[in-house]
Amino acid sequence: MNTNRLSDKMASALNDQMTKEAHASQIYLSYAAWADSQGYGGIANFLFRHAHEERNHMMKILEYILKRGAVVRVTAIPAPPADPLNINDCFEKVFNHEVDNTKAIYQVVKLSLTEEDWATWNFMQWFVKEQTEEETLALSLLDKIKIAGGEKINSDALYTLDRDLENTPDDARLAQDVTTENP
Ligand code: FEO
Repeated sequence: MNTNRLSDKMASALNDQMTKEAHASQIYLSYAAWADSQGYGGIANFLFRHAHEERNHMMKILEYILKRGAVVRVTAIPAPPADPLNINDCFEKVFNHEVDNTKAIYQVVKLSLTEEDWATWNFMQWFVKEQTEEETLALSLLDKIKIAGGEKINSDALYTLDRDLENTPDDARLAQDVTTENP
């Protein structure tokens, strides 16, 4: 009796996405270590928290593959890229990594549509929303850095940003959650 509810192609796509989430976690971890080494404790704290979030994303996918009766393949995680050049570069890279990950998630969603695998389609909607939040958050931080001078951000502005990020909520508010009373 076959109890596997995922196609081979879908199991492979989900396993790949699981590794991508682990990679995203490593990227945040390496950027956090870099930020801390530069003396930005608040920014490092923010990035460490996000490394943890990405690890949770990896676990969600792992659990889903198992629950659908397919095989989980834990493989090597690619090394993170080189350290950022500065804080502006750090958040530009964070934003670009998130956009790349969104594109990968959309590919899994597209496959679920093609296969009419509505369970996976439904499961992946959580990730679609999460990616919108993460892109929105990275974009809002880039906006703040830009206002403070972008690559030429001065030490006072960096100090404030570092302190702010220590307490920045990990989730951004999405356009679909906005109301006229609460714009
Ligand atoms: Fe789980 Fe930000 O990708």
